[in-house]
Amino acid sequence: MKITSINDKTVLNNGVEMPWFGLGTMNTGKTDDEVAEVVKTAAALGYRAFDTAKVYRNETGVGKGLKESSIPRDQLFITTKLANPDQGYDQALRAFDESLEKLGLDYLDLYLIHWPVPGHLESWKALEKLYKDGRVRAIGVSNFLVHHLEALLQVAEIPPAVNQYEFHPLLTQPELKAYNESKKIQVEGYYALRDSQDNPRIVEIGRKYGKSPAQVILRWNLQSNVVIIPKSTREDRLRSNADIFNFELSDEDMAAINNLGNEKRLNPHPDEVAKR
Ligand SMILES: NC(=O)c1ccc[n+]([C@@H]2O[C@H](COP(=O)([O-])OP(=O)(O)OC[C@H]3O[C@@H](n4cnc5c(N)ncnc54)[C@H](OP(=O)(O)O)[C@@H]3O)[C@@H](O)[C@H]2O)c1
Repeated sequence: MKITSINDKTVLNNGVEMPWFGLGTMNTGKTDDEVAEVVKTAAALGYRAFDTAKVYRNETGVGKGLKESSIPRDQLFITTKLANPDQGYDQALRAFDESLEKLGLDYLDLYLIHWPVPGHLESWKALEKLYKDGRVRAIGVSNFLVHHLEALLQVAEIPPAVNQYEFHPLLTQPELKAYNESKKIQVEGYYALRDSQDNPRIVEIGRKYGKSPAQVILRWNLQSNVVIIPKSTREDRLRSNADIFNFELSDEDMAAINNLGNEKRLNPHPDEVAKR
């Protein structure tokens, strides 16, 4: 599918539509007001999907920004995540209520288990209940490797709709991506812009299209069928990061980025986090 607008959406395995493009909100401000300003600026630029998490401690600020932006609720796609200490059936139900309250919402679009830490299979049962009760439109996971997904799929009544994990030109994990795709689990990438903007090959490709390295990387994600949530607190970058719907990388340039090699993980390995 060709993605040609900020409003284009992927259809998840339960039929729910999720924008291909949204805003990551980690580290977007020290106060609720600062976070709210970034959310409002992004919303004014056309952003409609927003990704947060309990551990970012900004759900209140995100909620404030959403409310003040006055975008109709049904045009928004809001994701938050279950934190590691909140694993377990009852704890997960409670954590969901707290997140929803902070966000000032009466339903969520996507709720993710943040990391595959012990207790996450019990948590999944809670997410299934929330989904069946109509309190969240889709449920999913984050930082799950193939072996975590295999174990989850064995017990899940409802399969995860999304797996959000570290994905960028220097960490592509083709087997993990192929596994998600084979199970119709939408891949959502994070850290798109962290470490490859000064890669000479990406800079060179950008020159050819008259685009910045960040725009090339974001476009490469979309053309790889990966949902993206680039973060910025700067209006100029929020604008340019969203200006990626009017060009198409050639197959040759896609392959060049896919083949950069140098697999480099920036966040801790999920198996290490699970052991902590
Ligand atoms: N599930 C998980 O475990 C997990 C883990 C990490 C992140 N996430 C999610 O993924 C989102 C994205 O990750 P991230 O925020 O760490 O990294 P990112 O989107 O890769 O952005 C990294 C940095 O790049 C800068 N930047 C943005 N646009 C730019 C541009 N056009 N040119 C140059 N620099 C630019 C930003 O700084 P400025 O603000 O100064 O522009 C930002 O701090 C997070 O906000 C969060 O929602 C999820």
